[in-house]
Amino acid sequence: MKDYNNVIELNHPLITHKLAILRDKNTGTKEFRELAKEIGTFLCFEAMSDAKLEEVIVETPIDTIKTGKLDEDKYAFVPILRAGMGFVDGVVSAIPNAKIGHIGMYRDEKTFKPVNYFFKVPKDIENREVILLDPMLATGGSAMDAIELLKEKGVKKIKFLCMIAAPEGLEVVTKAHPDVKIYCAHIDDHLNSNKYIVPGLGDAGDRIYGTK
Ligand code: PRP
Ligand code: URA
Repeated sequence: MKDYNNVIELNHPLITHKLAILRDKNTGTKEFRELAKEIGTFLCFEAMSDAKLEEVIVETPIDTIKTGKLDEDKYAFVPILRAGMGFVDGVVSAIPNAKIGHIGMYRDEKTFKPVNYFFKVPKDIENREVILLDPMLATGGSAMDAIELLKEKGVKKIKFLCMIAAPEGLEVVTKAHPDVKIYCAHIDDHLNSNKYIVPGLGDAGDRIYGTK
């Protein structure tokens, strides 16, 4: 397996366990949603491991301690619709005060290129670290467009969280945007002729929303 710069594959036994259930074609919508949310929380904790804390003094019932707190106002989550919404509850449970933007995009079934249909982010997005959310990074087209739209708005620090990434997409995104750190639960094997991730989990949006 190739080592990509700035790609962090979690490979944690609990995540592998949850992903195994989620990948199963017999897993239903309710369980799929719950697992996606839980994996989102895990990914968010890992993505925040380099966060800078502000020094605070806290009085405990016993003594005082010099410790650290996160300035939650410095962050924004941006799910790529639809499937990225599956991560929102999970990440918000980790950083409840982060603002949330939305990028609407779907992959054209013939060209496999992303089609943008919605873009709404917080006004002060350029002052925030943005954590992009999308369960699947396949060809990387959607991630590339979303990153470019955010950079055009002046965003300087972007992280991308996904459940499953394909080597083909990682190659493209890491080459074009070496400054963007990608956190994924697992790097799968390859893309098939329909640009689906193999073995993957199928169509994430359809499985979250039960649309197929
Ligand atoms: C899926 C997924 C990503 C995209 C990944 O979205 O959620 O956004 O495909 O593929 P790529 O890396 O080749 O661009 P989809 O087009 O199925 O839209 P949906 O989330 O609305 O179902
Ligand atoms: N989008 C998905 O939802 N699944 C894939 O395997 C590829 C793109």
